[in-house]
Amino acid sequence: MKTENKTGRAAESDELLCVRDLCKRYAVENNRTMKREYSEVIREVSLTVRKNESVCIMGRSGCGKTTLLKILGGLLAPTAGSVYYKGEDLFRCRWKRMEEYRRTQVGFVFQDYKLLDHLTIRENMILPLMLEHEDVETSVRKVGEMADRLQIAGRLDYYPGELAGGEKQRAAIGRALMNDPELILADEPTGNLDEACGRIVMELLTGLQKKLHKTLVLVTHDREIADHCDRTITIRHGRIVSLD
Ligand SMILES: Nc1ncnc2c1ncn2[C@@H]1O[C@H](COP(=O)(O)OP(=O)(O)OP(=O)(O)O)[C@@H](O)[C@H]1O
Ligand SMILES: [Mg+2]
Repeated sequence: MKTENKTGRAAESDELLCVRDLCKRYAVENNRTMKREYSEVIREVSLTVRKNESVCIMGRSGCGKTTLLKILGGLLAPTAGSVYYKGEDLFRCRWKRMEEYRRTQVGFVFQDYKLLDHLTIRENMILPLMLEHEDVETSVRKVGEMADRLQIAGRLDYYPGELAGGEKQRAAIGRALMNDPELILADEPTGNLDEACGRIVMELLTGLQKKLHKTLVLVTHDREIADHCDRTITIRHGRIVSLD
């Protein structure tokens, strides 16, 4: 079955993201010549991400993984090409729609957690619900349920600085999932964790992704972490070199 959008294309019913001929170049000042130069970071990338699958993006440092993830999440505009979300052309829709996409359809997980240090874990996790004007009682219940799933219920009244790295990342995953987004984008979520902690975090992340029927796009350098995902896309110098 195909669905059509006002600012988009017909999409297969199991297609969540469709990327076509994506390019990104950054402008950089050359300090020696004082001239502006351009560096091509993403080059003609095309790929499709289906609903409920977990896709891993791998490649050497600097090959463009974070840049690609930011574009998929609507945090960065491409220089050329398109990203379709359920057939809707994200970078050609209205600014308000893009903001809504980021807020309600996407949950971000970062290597350095990006928790707010002056708020407790409960307050960090409740923030996305407050932005959606969810009532307090429901919000507190949802945070409690998510904390149980992530085995951090006993840490809700602690501040991020009082938690171990793995606990902070579990809280960050909880925050990312709070609004029930369809897509989770995770950039090296285990990059700051030791092997054992990283494994626990990945098991929780992929376990929740399957159980809650989410789609996961995850960046990692670690082959073992990649094995938790359904398939791997390898990037070299901004181009896809394998899609399996
Ligand atoms: N805002 C920016 N302005 C200019 N160049 C940038 C900017 N952000 C990233 N780059 C450059 O683009 C290239 C790709 O960066 P990106 O962060 O996407 O790589 P990455 O694959 O995520 O690397 P890593 O594995 O180290 O995180 C790098 O050479 C980086 O220096
Ligand atoms: Mg990166």
